[in-house]
Amino acid sequence: MKKNENLLLLGGGGHCRSCIEVIESTGQWRIIGIVDPNLPPGSMLYGYPVLGDDDHLAQWRDRASYALVTVGQIHTAQVRQRLFAWLTENGFSAATVISSRAYVSPRARIGAGTIVLHDALINAGSIVGENCIVNTKALIEHDCRVGAHCHIATGARVNGTVRIGAGSFIGSGAIVVNDVVLPENSFIRAGELVRRSCAEGAGI
Ligand SMILES: CC(C)(COP(=O)(O)OP(=O)(O)OC[C@H]1O[C@@H](n2cnc3c(N)ncnc32)[C@H](O)[C@@H]1OP(=O)(O)O)[C@@H](O)C(=O)NCCC(=O)NCCS
Repeated sequence: MKKNENLLLLGGGGHCRSCIEVIESTGQWRIIGIVDPNLPPGSMLYGYPVLGDDDHLAQWRDRASYALVTVGQIHTAQVRQRLFAWLTENGFSAATVISSRAYVSPRARIGAGTIVLHDALINAGSIVGENCIVNTKALIEHDCRVGAHCHIATGARVNGTVRIGAGSFIGSGAIVVNDVVLPENSFIRAGELVRRSCAEGAGI
């Protein structure tokens, strides 16, 4: 990837504000604007313009090859999944963003469209899928597998060899004990201690 690629952000809420600072910290992207139907077009967010609706899609694509989903995720991954599908269907590449303050082992792999925020740590042998959020100060220890569209929230600790199914949420400060396996769309509350694996559909 070239340096200073143009980047479009999808979603201008609170998570986006955190993402902007992370993106700026990398020195690798030029944010061309933020698409968010809930914000007035023409307004500015941290110096970046809020762009109009889908009518302007062709114009955005001419200006940016990359896009990143910057909507947050707690109760469901559906919005982020839909936006991720939208960006790929419309010819954008999904940006992978790693904060200059994060540590991602050279032996770990991070999927397209995933953002790793400040002070997060992803250790050797772990694989994180596409369109995930690894939030501020989250830890993913060695040899974990985190499926696509997951949010590992602020300060969560995912210990060695854990498996987390796609679309899951691991709440802020939660601890997932080593070797635990969680099915798709798991929801772990903030501060929760998860000591045992959970079968599909067991309603975590
Ligand atoms: C699970 C969660 C969504 C529940 O929120 P809520 O619906 O507002 O829950 P309520 O305040 O109505 O509480 C309902 C019950 O669950 C309990 N509860 C709620 N959250 C809890 C938590 N995180 N851990 C333990 N118990 C919890 C409450 O004590 C309450 O019990 P009670 O009925 O005996 O009083 C919320 O606690 C949570 O974890 N949110 C995620 C926060 C987070 O990680 N954000 C990401 C930041 S990057």
